[in-house]
Amino acid sequence: MVWDLTTIDYGERGTVLVVPGTEAMAVAAAQSLISVSETAATQTRRALVALSGGSTPKRMGQLLAEAPYRDRVKWEHLELFWGDERWVPLDDPESNAGEAKRGFLDHVPIPPDQVHAWDTTVDPESSAAAYVDTLRSAMQQNNTGAFDLILLGMGDDGHTASLFPGTAAIHESQRLAVSHEVPKLAAMRLTFAPVLINAAAKVIFLVGGAGKADMLHTVLDGPIDIDTYPSQVVRPASGDLEWLVDAAAAARLERTTNHG
Ligand code: 6PG
Repeated sequence: MVWDLTTIDYGERGTVLVVPGTEAMAVAAAQSLISVSETAATQTRRALVALSGGSTPKRMGQLLAEAPYRDRVKWEHLELFWGDERWVPLDDPESNAGEAKRGFLDHVPIPPDQVHAWDTTVDPESSAAAYVDTLRSAMQQNNTGAFDLILLGMGDDGHTASLFPGTAAIHESQRLAVSHEVPKLAAMRLTFAPVLINAAAKVIFLVGGAGKADMLHTVLDGPIDIDTYPSQVVRPASGDLEWLVDAAAAARLERTTNHG
C-alpha cells in the first residue's frame, strides 16, 4: 500500500512519520512487525516484540489476522510480550493480552509458548517478578539482550505503557518491569520500566486522532518533564525511536519538513 508520508526529524526525541489516517498507521505498524520477523528469520532466531494496549494495535491485529499480512509474518520467529497490562483476568474485555488473543493471535499460526501474557492470577508483585524472569530468559536466548521492537501508545495525559504521570515507576532503574497502583485510575497496573524500553533496538509510538494533538505537541516541542509527561522518558540508548502518527495528531507540531 502506498500513501503520503512526511518525515520530521525530532533529533533525540525521535523521528516523526506522519501518515494520512489511523488505517495507514495500522498498516505501517503491521509492516514493522512483519519486518522484524523477516529479519529474525534470516538470522535464525526469534524477534522479541512488545505490543501495547490501545486502539491502533487493535486494528493492526485485525490486519495481521488476514491475507496478505498473515502470510507474510514469520510467526515462528516471533516472541510476543505486552509492555503493560491491566489487573484483570485474561478473558476480561479490558485485558490487553486477552484483546490481542481474541482479536488476532488465536487466528494466526504463532506457537502458543511464544506468546507471553502477564499472569494476573497471582499477586501483582509475583506477577511482575515472574515476567522479569521470562523477559530475561527470552533476551538471553535471543542473543541480543534486548527487544527488537516495542510498540507503545501515548495517552492524552502523556502516559505511555502504564507509566502514568507522577508515579515512581517512571524512575524505576533496577527492575525491568513492575506492578504498581495508579492513583488516578484507582487500579493496579503492570508495566515495563523505562530501562527495559530504552534498551530496545526500536521503539514505535502509535499516536492517532485530534484528541492527541495537544499532548503530542507538548511531548515533542515542550520542555522535558518526565514526571508530568512520562512519554518523554522514552529515549532508546542506541535504538531507533519513531512516532507513527496521523495527520490529525500531528496538527500542532512545530517542526515540519518536506521529505516526500
Ligand atoms: C493501555 C496502554 C496505554 C495505551 C495508551 C494509548 O493498556 O492502556 O498500553 O499506554 O497505549 O493509553 O491508547 P490509545 O492508542 O487507545 O489512545
